[in-house]
Amino acid sequence: AFNLRGRSFLKELDFTPGEFAFLLKLSADLKAAKYAGTERQRLRGKNIALIFEKTSTRTRCAFEVAAHDQGAHVTYLDPSGSQMGHKESVKDTARVLGRMFDGIEYRGSAQADVEELAAYSGVPVWNGLTDEWHPTQMLADMLTMKEHSDKPLHDISFAYLGDARNNMGNSLLVTGAMLGMDVRLVAPKSLQPDSKSVVKPAKDLAKQTGATITITDDVAKGVKGVDYLYTDVWVSMGEPEEVWAERIKLLKPYQVNDKVVKATGNRGVKFMHCLPAFHNRETKVGENLYEKTGLDALEVTESVFESPRSIVFDEAENRLHTIKAIMVATLGD
Ligand code: CP
Ligand code: NVA
Repeated sequence: AFNLRGRSFLKELDFTPGEFAFLLKLSADLKAAKYAGTERQRLRGKNIALIFEKTSTRTRCAFEVAAHDQGAHVTYLDPSGSQMGHKESVKDTARVLGRMFDGIEYRGSAQADVEELAAYSGVPVWNGLTDEWHPTQMLADMLTMKEHSDKPLHDISFAYLGDARNNMGNSLLVTGAMLGMDVRLVAPKSLQPDSKSVVKPAKDLAKQTGATITITDDVAKGVKGVDYLYTDVWVSMGEPEEVWAERIKLLKPYQVNDKVVKATGNRGVKFMHCLPAFHNRETKVGENLYEKTGLDALEVTESVFESPRSIVFDEAENRLHTIKAIMVATLGD
Protein backbone atom coordinates (compact mmCIF):
# COMPACT_ATOMS: atom_id res chain seq x y z
CA ALA A 1 0.00 0.00 0.00
CA PHE A 2 1.00 3.61 -0.37
CA ASN A 3 1.25 6.17 2.39
CA LEU A 4 0.44 9.67 1.14
CA ARG A 5 -0.24 11.19 4.56
CA GLY A 6 0.92 14.79 4.81
CA ARG A 7 1.52 15.09 1.07
CA SER A 8 0.12 17.89 -1.09
CA PHE A 9 -1.61 17.30 -4.42
CA LEU A 10 -0.19 20.02 -6.66
CA LYS A 11 0.44 18.39 -10.01
CA GLU A 12 0.42 14.92 -11.55
CA LEU A 13 4.20 14.84 -12.02
CA ASP A 14 4.69 14.83 -8.23
CA PHE A 15 3.20 11.32 -8.08
CA THR A 16 4.39 7.93 -9.26
CA PRO A 17 2.17 5.78 -11.47
CA GLY A 18 1.71 3.48 -8.47
CA GLU A 19 0.58 6.31 -6.21
CA PHE A 20 -1.83 7.54 -8.85
CA ALA A 21 -3.29 4.07 -9.28
CA PHE A 22 -3.64 3.80 -5.50
CA LEU A 23 -5.69 7.04 -5.43
CA LEU A 24 -7.91 5.67 -8.20
CA LYS A 25 -8.52 2.48 -6.25
CA LEU A 26 -9.28 4.45 -3.08
CA SER A 27 -11.74 6.60 -5.08
CA ALA A 28 -13.58 3.52 -6.32
CA ASP A 29 -13.67 2.09 -2.78
CA LEU A 30 -15.03 5.32 -1.30
CA LYS A 31 -17.63 5.56 -4.06
CA ALA A 32 -18.78 1.98 -3.40
CA ALA A 33 -18.91 2.62 0.35
CA LYS A 34 -21.02 5.74 -0.09
CA TYR A 35 -23.46 3.86 -2.34
CA ALA A 36 -23.61 0.96 0.11
CA GLY A 37 -24.12 3.27 3.10
CA THR A 38 -20.97 1.95 4.78
CA GLU A 39 -18.72 5.01 4.51
CA ARG A 40 -16.42 5.47 7.49
CA GLN A 41 -15.49 9.02 8.48
CA ARG A 42 -11.74 9.58 8.48
CA LEU A 43 -11.65 13.38 8.48
CA ARG A 44 -13.57 14.00 11.68
CA GLY A 45 -12.55 17.19 13.46
CA LYS A 46 -10.47 18.44 10.52
CA ASN A 47 -10.80 22.02 9.30
CA ILE A 48 -10.38 22.64 5.61
CA ALA A 49 -10.02 25.95 3.74
CA LEU A 50 -11.33 26.22 0.19
CA ILE A 51 -9.79 29.17 -1.62
CA PHE A 52 -11.19 30.04 -5.03
CA GLU A 53 -9.66 32.92 -6.97
CA LYS A 54 -11.70 31.73 -9.96
CA THR A 55 -15.30 30.53 -9.96
CA SER A 56 -16.31 26.88 -9.70
CA THR A 57 -19.31 24.59 -9.53
CA ARG A 58 -17.96 21.02 -9.52
CA THR A 59 -14.67 21.46 -7.68
CA ARG A 60 -16.09 23.56 -4.89
CA CYS A 61 -19.14 21.33 -4.39
CA ALA A 62 -17.06 18.16 -4.56
CA PHE A 63 -14.72 19.44 -1.84
CA GLU A 64 -17.62 20.58 0.35
CA VAL A 65 -19.70 17.42 0.04
CA ALA A 66 -16.68 15.13 0.34
CA ALA A 67 -15.54 16.97 3.49
CA HIS A 68 -19.03 16.76 5.03
CA ASP A 69 -19.34 13.06 4.15
CA GLN A 70 -16.03 12.49 5.92
CA GLY A 71 -16.86 14.58 9.00
CA ALA A 72 -14.69 17.65 8.29
CA HIS A 73 -15.57 21.34 8.37
CA VAL A 74 -14.95 23.71 5.48
CA THR A 75 -14.44 27.44 5.13
CA TYR A 76 -15.06 28.75 1.62
CA LEU A 77 -13.21 31.88 0.49
CA ASP A 78 -14.51 33.23 -2.80
CA PRO A 79 -12.53 35.28 -5.33
CA SER A 80 -13.10 38.46 -3.34
CA GLY A 81 -13.35 36.88 0.11
CA SER A 82 -9.78 37.04 1.34
CA GLN A 83 -6.82 39.38 1.36
CA MET A 84 -4.71 36.89 -0.54
CA GLY A 85 -3.29 38.23 -3.78
CA HIS A 86 -4.78 41.68 -3.10
CA LYS A 87 -3.61 43.05 0.20
CA GLU A 88 -1.51 40.12 1.36
CA SER A 89 1.10 37.88 -0.23
CA VAL A 90 0.62 34.17 -0.83
CA LYS A 91 3.49 33.47 1.54
CA ASP A 92 1.93 35.39 4.44
CA THR A 93 -1.52 33.94 3.77
CA ALA A 94 -0.02 30.46 3.79
CA ARG A 95 1.58 30.97 7.18
CA VAL A 96 -1.69 32.27 8.63
CA LEU A 97 -3.96 29.56 7.21
CA GLY A 98 -1.47 26.85 8.15
CA ARG A 99 -2.00 27.82 11.82
CA MET A 100 -5.75 27.35 11.58
CA PHE A 101 -6.48 24.69 8.99
CA ASP A 102 -5.50 21.05 8.53
CA GLY A 103 -5.73 21.19 4.73
CA ILE A 104 -6.15 23.83 2.03
CA GLU A 105 -7.68 23.65 -1.45
CA TYR A 106 -6.55 26.39 -3.83
CA ARG A 107 -7.80 27.39 -7.29
CA GLY A 108 -5.99 30.24 -8.98
CA SER A 109 -3.88 31.27 -11.94
CA ALA A 110 -0.17 30.66 -11.45
CA GLN A 111 1.03 27.19 -10.48
CA ALA A 112 3.76 28.99 -8.52
CA ASP A 113 1.09 30.32 -6.13
CA VAL A 114 -0.28 26.92 -5.17
CA GLU A 115 3.29 25.63 -4.82
CA GLU A 116 4.16 28.54 -2.53
CA LEU A 117 1.04 27.96 -0.46
CA ALA A 118 2.13 24.37 0.07
CA ALA A 119 5.70 25.34 0.87
CA TYR A 120 4.77 27.84 3.59
CA SER A 121 1.52 26.55 5.11
CA GLY A 122 2.95 23.30 6.45
CA VAL A 123 -0.31 21.44 5.72
CA PRO A 124 -1.48 19.44 2.68
CA VAL A 125 -2.51 21.75 -0.19
CA TRP A 126 -4.68 20.49 -3.04
CA ASN A 127 -4.61 22.17 -6.45
CA GLY A 128 -8.20 22.84 -7.52
CA LEU A 129 -7.00 24.18 -10.93
CA THR A 130 -4.29 26.52 -12.11
CA ASP A 131 -3.49 27.80 -15.58
CA GLU A 132 -0.98 24.95 -15.90
CA TRP A 133 -2.60 21.87 -14.33
CA HIS A 134 -5.95 20.43 -13.21
CA PRO A 135 -4.86 17.33 -11.29
CA THR A 136 -8.05 16.61 -9.30
CA GLN A 137 -9.93 16.48 -12.61
CA MET A 138 -7.52 13.79 -13.83
CA LEU A 139 -8.45 11.30 -11.13
CA ALA A 140 -12.14 11.76 -11.96
CA ASP A 141 -11.52 11.38 -15.68
CA MET A 142 -9.46 8.23 -15.31
CA LEU A 143 -11.97 6.68 -12.89
CA THR A 144 -14.74 7.46 -15.40
CA MET A 145 -12.86 5.88 -18.30
CA LYS A 146 -12.17 2.83 -16.16
CA GLU A 147 -15.84 2.49 -15.27
CA HIS A 148 -16.97 2.79 -18.89
CA SER A 149 -14.43 0.36 -20.35
CA ASP A 150 -14.13 -3.40 -20.25
CA LYS A 151 -10.35 -3.25 -20.46
CA PRO A 152 -7.59 -1.87 -18.22
CA LEU A 153 -6.55 1.79 -18.45
CA HIS A 154 -3.26 0.98 -20.21
CA ASP A 155 -5.26 -0.47 -23.11
CA ILE A 156 -7.47 2.62 -23.44
CA SER A 157 -7.03 5.33 -26.07
CA PHE A 158 -8.38 8.85 -25.96
CA ALA A 159 -8.12 11.95 -28.13
CA TYR A 160 -8.29 15.44 -26.66
CA LEU A 161 -9.30 18.04 -29.25
CA GLY A 162 -9.09 21.80 -28.86
CA ASP A 163 -6.87 24.04 -26.78
CA ALA A 164 -4.13 21.58 -25.87
CA ARG A 165 -1.96 24.30 -24.36
CA ASN A 166 -4.28 24.85 -21.41
CA ASN A 167 -4.49 23.08 -18.05
CA MET A 168 -6.60 20.22 -19.47
CA GLY A 169 -4.29 19.52 -22.40
CA ASN A 170 -1.25 19.49 -20.12
CA SER A 171 -2.86 17.33 -17.46
CA LEU A 172 -4.40 14.80 -19.84
CA LEU A 173 -1.10 14.30 -21.67
CA VAL A 174 0.95 13.73 -18.53
CA THR A 175 -1.69 11.57 -16.85
CA GLY A 176 -2.26 9.40 -19.90
CA ALA A 177 1.51 8.95 -20.18
CA MET A 178 1.75 8.04 -16.51
CA LEU A 179 -0.93 5.36 -16.84
CA GLY A 180 0.49 3.82 -20.00
CA MET A 181 -2.40 4.88 -22.24
CA ASP A 182 -2.69 5.72 -25.94
CA VAL A 183 -2.91 9.52 -25.66
CA ARG A 184 -3.63 11.81 -28.59
CA LEU A 185 -3.64 15.59 -28.47
CA VAL A 186 -5.30 17.01 -31.55
CA ALA A 187 -4.73 20.73 -31.90
CA PRO A 188 -3.27 23.35 -34.20
CA LYS A 189 0.48 23.76 -33.74
CA SER A 190 0.20 27.03 -31.82
CA LEU A 191 -2.13 25.40 -29.26
CA GLN A 192 -0.05 22.30 -28.58
CA PRO A 193 1.58 21.93 -25.15
CA ASP A 194 4.94 23.39 -24.21
CA SER A 195 7.69 21.02 -25.25
CA LYS A 196 10.02 21.54 -22.29
CA SER A 197 7.67 21.64 -19.30
CA VAL A 198 4.97 19.25 -20.57
CA VAL A 199 5.82 17.13 -23.61
CA LYS A 200 9.31 16.18 -22.44
CA PRO A 201 8.24 14.84 -19.02
CA ALA A 202 5.28 13.06 -20.65
CA LYS A 203 7.61 11.34 -23.13
CA ASP A 204 9.97 10.35 -20.32
CA LEU A 205 7.03 8.79 -18.48
CA ALA A 206 5.84 7.03 -21.61
CA LYS A 207 9.20 5.28 -21.89
CA GLN A 208 8.65 3.76 -18.45
CA THR A 209 4.98 2.92 -18.81
CA GLY A 210 4.64 1.94 -22.47
CA ALA A 211 2.27 4.80 -23.22
CA THR A 212 1.87 6.01 -26.81
CA ILE A 213 1.88 9.75 -27.34
CA THR A 214 0.55 11.43 -30.47
CA ILE A 215 0.46 15.19 -30.84
CA THR A 216 -0.98 16.19 -34.19
CA ASP A 217 -2.95 18.89 -35.98
CA ASP A 218 -4.58 16.24 -38.17
CA VAL A 219 -8.06 15.42 -36.84
CA ALA A 220 -8.67 12.29 -38.93
CA LYS A 221 -5.35 10.78 -37.92
CA GLY A 222 -5.66 11.85 -34.27
CA VAL A 223 -9.10 10.40 -33.58
CA LYS A 224 -8.83 7.17 -35.56
CA GLY A 225 -9.93 4.19 -33.49
CA VAL A 226 -10.09 5.97 -30.13
CA ASP A 227 -12.27 4.84 -27.23
CA TYR A 228 -12.87 8.38 -25.92
CA LEU A 229 -13.19 11.83 -27.44
CA TYR A 230 -12.47 14.66 -25.01
CA THR A 231 -12.69 18.42 -25.33
CA ASP A 232 -12.71 21.58 -23.23
CA VAL A 233 -13.65 25.24 -23.71
CA TRP A 234 -11.64 27.14 -26.27
CA VAL A 235 -11.03 30.06 -23.95
CA SER A 236 -10.18 29.36 -20.32
CA MET A 237 -10.95 31.31 -17.17
CA GLY A 238 -8.69 34.32 -16.82
CA GLU A 239 -8.08 34.70 -20.56
CA PRO A 240 -9.29 37.96 -22.10
CA GLU A 241 -12.43 37.87 -24.22
CA GLU A 242 -10.45 39.36 -27.10
CA VAL A 243 -8.82 36.01 -27.80
CA TRP A 244 -12.18 34.51 -28.85
CA ALA A 245 -12.01 35.59 -32.49
CA GLU A 246 -8.54 34.12 -32.96
CA ARG A 247 -9.42 30.89 -31.12
CA ILE A 248 -12.53 30.30 -33.21
CA LYS A 249 -10.48 30.69 -36.34
CA LEU A 250 -7.87 28.25 -35.06
CA LEU A 251 -10.15 25.72 -33.40
CA LYS A 252 -13.19 25.52 -35.63
CA PRO A 253 -11.76 22.45 -37.42
CA TYR A 254 -11.35 20.77 -34.01
CA GLN A 255 -14.97 21.01 -32.87
CA VAL A 256 -16.30 17.65 -31.63
CA ASN A 257 -19.30 16.99 -33.88
CA ASP A 258 -20.95 14.05 -35.65
CA LYS A 259 -18.32 14.09 -38.37
CA VAL A 260 -15.52 13.68 -35.83
CA VAL A 261 -17.44 10.89 -34.08
CA LYS A 262 -17.70 9.12 -37.41
CA ALA A 263 -14.02 9.66 -38.15
CA THR A 264 -13.10 7.60 -35.09
CA GLY A 265 -14.54 4.54 -36.83
CA ASN A 266 -15.59 3.35 -33.36
CA ARG A 267 -19.36 3.05 -33.01
CA GLY A 268 -19.01 2.81 -29.24
CA VAL A 269 -16.82 5.90 -28.84
CA LYS A 270 -17.71 7.93 -25.73
CA PHE A 271 -17.60 11.67 -25.24
CA MET A 272 -16.06 13.44 -22.24
CA HIS A 273 -15.70 17.06 -21.12
CA CYS A 274 -14.48 18.44 -17.80
CA LEU A 275 -17.32 21.03 -17.95
CA PRO A 276 -18.53 23.72 -17.97
CA ALA A 277 -19.19 23.26 -21.71
CA PHE A 278 -20.23 25.63 -24.42
CA HIS A 279 -22.58 23.45 -26.49
CA ASN A 280 -25.67 25.48 -27.33
CA ARG A 281 -26.98 28.99 -27.51
CA GLU A 282 -28.17 28.91 -23.89
CA THR A 283 -24.62 28.66 -22.61
CA LYS A 284 -23.24 32.11 -22.04
CA VAL A 285 -19.52 32.43 -21.89
CA GLY A 286 -18.87 36.06 -21.30
CA GLU A 287 -21.56 38.53 -22.16
CA ASN A 288 -23.76 37.48 -25.07
CA LEU A 289 -20.98 35.44 -26.52
CA TYR A 290 -23.36 33.48 -28.68
CA GLU A 291 -24.68 36.63 -30.29
CA LYS A 292 -21.16 37.81 -30.91
CA THR A 293 -19.70 34.62 -32.27
CA GLY A 294 -22.48 32.27 -33.36
CA LEU A 295 -22.44 28.50 -33.22
CA ASP A 296 -18.92 28.49 -34.62
CA ALA A 297 -17.71 29.06 -31.09
CA LEU A 298 -18.96 25.73 -29.75
CA GLU A 299 -16.26 23.22 -28.84
CA VAL A 300 -18.89 20.44 -29.03
CA THR A 301 -22.21 20.27 -30.80
CA GLU A 302 -25.48 19.64 -28.98
CA SER A 303 -25.89 16.44 -31.03
CA VAL A 304 -22.79 14.94 -29.38
CA PHE A 305 -23.15 16.52 -25.96
CA GLU A 306 -26.71 15.23 -25.51
CA SER A 307 -26.15 11.86 -27.15
CA PRO A 308 -26.03 8.52 -25.29
CA ARG A 309 -22.28 8.42 -25.92
CA SER A 310 -21.82 11.45 -23.66
CA ILE A 311 -20.66 10.47 -20.16
CA VAL A 312 -20.00 13.99 -18.90
CA PHE A 313 -22.28 13.75 -15.87
CA ASP A 314 -20.78 10.47 -14.67
CA GLU A 315 -17.48 12.29 -15.01
CA ALA A 316 -18.79 15.24 -12.98
CA GLU A 317 -20.07 12.97 -10.19
CA ASN A 318 -16.69 11.31 -9.99
CA ARG A 319 -15.15 14.64 -8.97
CA LEU A 320 -16.76 14.01 -5.59
CA HIS A 321 -15.41 10.50 -5.01
CA THR A 322 -11.92 11.28 -6.27
CA ILE A 323 -11.51 14.54 -4.35
CA LYS A 324 -12.65 12.65 -1.26
CA ALA A 325 -9.93 10.08 -1.92
CA ILE A 326 -7.27 12.79 -2.15
CA MET A 327 -8.32 14.32 1.17
CA VAL A 328 -8.62 10.96 2.92
CA ALA A 329 -5.23 9.76 1.62
CA THR A 330 -3.32 12.92 2.56
CA LEU A 331 -5.18 13.96 5.70
CA GLY A 332 -7.18 10.96 6.92
CA ASP A 333 -6.69 9.14 10.23
N1 CP B 1 -14.44 20.78 -14.16
C1 CP B 1 -14.35 21.75 -13.23
O1 CP B 1 -13.31 21.98 -12.62
O2 CP B 1 -15.52 22.42 -13.00
P1 CP B 1 -15.69 23.71 -12.07
O3 CP B 1 -14.97 24.84 -12.74
O4 CP B 1 -17.19 23.91 -12.02
O5 CP B 1 -15.11 23.41 -10.72
N1 NVA C 1 -9.66 25.02 -19.21
C1 NVA C 1 -10.78 25.37 -18.37
C2 NVA C 1 -11.10 24.24 -17.44
C3 NVA C 1 -12.27 24.48 -16.53
C4 NVA C 1 -12.53 23.35 -15.60
C5 NVA C 1 -10.43 26.65 -17.60
O1 NVA C 1 -9.32 26.74 -17.08
O2 NVA C 1 -11.26 27.54 -17.55
